[in-house]
Amino acid sequence: MEMVKIFDTTLRDGEQSPGASMTIEEKVKVAKQLEKLRVDIIEAGFAAASPGDFEAIYNIAKEVRDSTICSLARAVEKDIKKAADAIAPAKLKRIHTFIATSPIHMKYKLRMSPDEVIKKAVRAVEYAKTFVDDIEFSCEDAGRSEMSFLKEIIDAVIKAGAKTINIPDTVGYRFPHEMGAMIKELVEYFPKDITFSVHCHNDLGLATANSLYSVLNGARQVECTINGLGERAGNAALEEIVMAIKVRRDLFDGIDTRINTREIYPTSRLVASVTGIEPQPNKAIVGRNAFAHESGIHQDGVLKHKETYEIMSAEDIGLDVKDTIVLGKHSGRHALKKKLEALGFSNLSEEELNRVFERFKKLADKKKEIYDEDILAIMNEESDKTPKVYELISLQLSDCSDGMPSAAAKIKFEDKVYTDAAIGEGTIDAVFKVIDRISGINGRLMDYKVEAVSEGKDALAKVMVKVIFDENKPAVMGHGLSIDTMLASAKAYINALNNYLHMKDLLSKKISYKDSI
Ligand code: KIV
Ligand code: ZN
Repeated sequence: MEMVKIFDTTLRDGEQSPGASMTIEEKVKVAKQLEKLRVDIIEAGFAAASPGDFEAIYNIAKEVRDSTICSLARAVEKDIKKAADAIAPAKLKRIHTFIATSPIHMKYKLRMSPDEVIKKAVRAVEYAKTFVDDIEFSCEDAGRSEMSFLKEIIDAVIKAGAKTINIPDTVGYRFPHEMGAMIKELVEYFPKDITFSVHCHNDLGLATANSLYSVLNGARQVECTINGLGERAGNAALEEIVMAIKVRRDLFDGIDTRINTREIYPTSRLVASVTGIEPQPNKAIVGRNAFAHESGIHQDGVLKHKETYEIMSAEDIGLDVKDTIVLGKHSGRHALKKKLEALGFSNLSEEELNRVFERFKKLADKKKEIYDEDILAIMNEESDKTPKVYELISLQLSDCSDGMPSAAAKIKFEDKVYTDAAIGEGTIDAVFKVIDRISGINGRLMDYKVEAVSEGKDALAKVMVKVIFDENKPAVMGHGLSIDTMLASAKAYINALNNYLHMKDLLSKKISYKDSI
């Protein structure tokens, strides 16, 4: 098996994403997770960039044992010295030095002739070599550099001691077949013991494709970042490269990485949380929707046989399967049943499942996404075994801007539907009063609480009330659930009323109320 080294630059190029800066502690935490993911090399930062960067690399070098720790350095002595000092405590260490090689960069940015660039690169590698043996040299903007010049400078830095030669497509300009051809030519030209690496940016959305074509053409190191973070449109995403190599073993015959793919999802979540940059929902591999099937047809197919709509499994990247069933209005009974099982409700009868499915469908018509919390709230209500003596059929509220809030309700009691209306001091008061009028039992509200069950503007409202219906008896609780707070309030009050009647009934039969529920 030939191994492709995974060089993670989340902490260096990834941190160059606008808004992605991390504290030293966060960087150490991410580095420890990258070690768990089993990346070969961690580019922990750019030591000369700031004292904070230096300290982060130094601390990472002390903590991480299983991955090589690397610092970036321009091809200047003071950068290289800082890099060497920062990685000093590491068990496995590398200095990564670079200089631009494209005509446009050499002329306008460096203002140096090609010969001067070569001399500077050689001096940098030789100096770095006085500190560590493992030296990587990058030809910045190689994607727009001339092949003859690339060969010349690479030849010189190899003679100076560089073991890994990185070919960055710094501005994300190359197409996959071009990148592949470039790597092939270089790999065939230079001795076999030199590792060619690629570092692709995503300006045209081709970073992953370019990296994979490079591997197919002989690159044996890929530089990448978690969630594809990086300068401008970002770098090639580690998760995409690793999973593409794993899933398409037929194309990458005999080639592998040492990544523990089950740590991909936890690493992605950690990086998203410390940087505050969430991958887009449809981001390959780690996006919120990457393994989520919403359409009933897809859900049914996947539940019957995963491979109908999945080329890899969620478990492979360390994602909990229960999180992959996303319920919405297109979901069917099969998907709901699976979700209920994942949430711990595995023994529902056909009748119970039908009832929950009906409630779920009604909710899904009103709400874009149904969260686990919504299902749990429905199941919580379903588990309420109190006899439904009173049942709310409908509720209508007046416009309260005239200062006379009123509510009209239809309530079922012993198979008959009763209608009435009431005016209250506020809308909720009017709602409770109309229920009192219909039942003929007046309640005194002791407590009222409302909370959102799940996220978003369309979250379900869960209302809890505590009511005294008889001054000689204890207060009773009631819960109501609806997308509409007033409806949830009415349901909660009626639930409290039913609980009270149930309690009264049991007390008259001398059965403990607590024992009955
Ligand atoms: O994109 C680039 O060229 C880089 C180099 C420093 C490797 O990040
Ligand atoms: Zn870069």
